[in-house]
Amino acid sequence: MTARSTWEELEQAARRARSQAYAPYSRFTVGAALKAKSGAVFVGCNVENASYGATICAERAALAAAIAAGERELVALAIVSGASDPIPPCGICRQSLAELAPELSIRSFTDDAQTDFELQGLLPSAFGAKSLT
Ligand code: THU
Repeated sequence: MTARSTWEELEQAARRARSQAYAPYSRFTVGAALKAKSGAVFVGCNVENASYGATICAERAALAAAIAAGERELVALAIVSGASDPIPPCGICRQSLAELAPELSIRSFTDDAQTDFELQGLLPSAFGAKSLT
């Protein structure tokens, strides 16, 4: 169970991060905030590129920041976008997040709505380290 105060903190951090998004091509700005078991919060925004495939999603940017800070256990993720409905993370982000946080709780926000997801529900039967053996 993720506390209400945690979600409020993550929502605020993700909204701030979204304001820094670099999305001149899609104009679809996304912010993400990831809470580690230590309590620290790491944010990311989408970073697009003229070579579109080089784009990094907000969720993976937040994941990279957490890992670079030495975190390995991640507990909750907030996503903020300007879509008409709260967005789930894309397929690539689901796979990236499952590597380190298969049981991650996710709350996605728009300006006036929110939806909860569980990573396990979004990516059942994930390919993982065990699959390599
Ligand atoms: N994007 C994210 O940052 N996160 C998602 O969950 C979905 C998509 C970004 C990638 C691209 O910059 C823009 O949103 C449109 O796909």
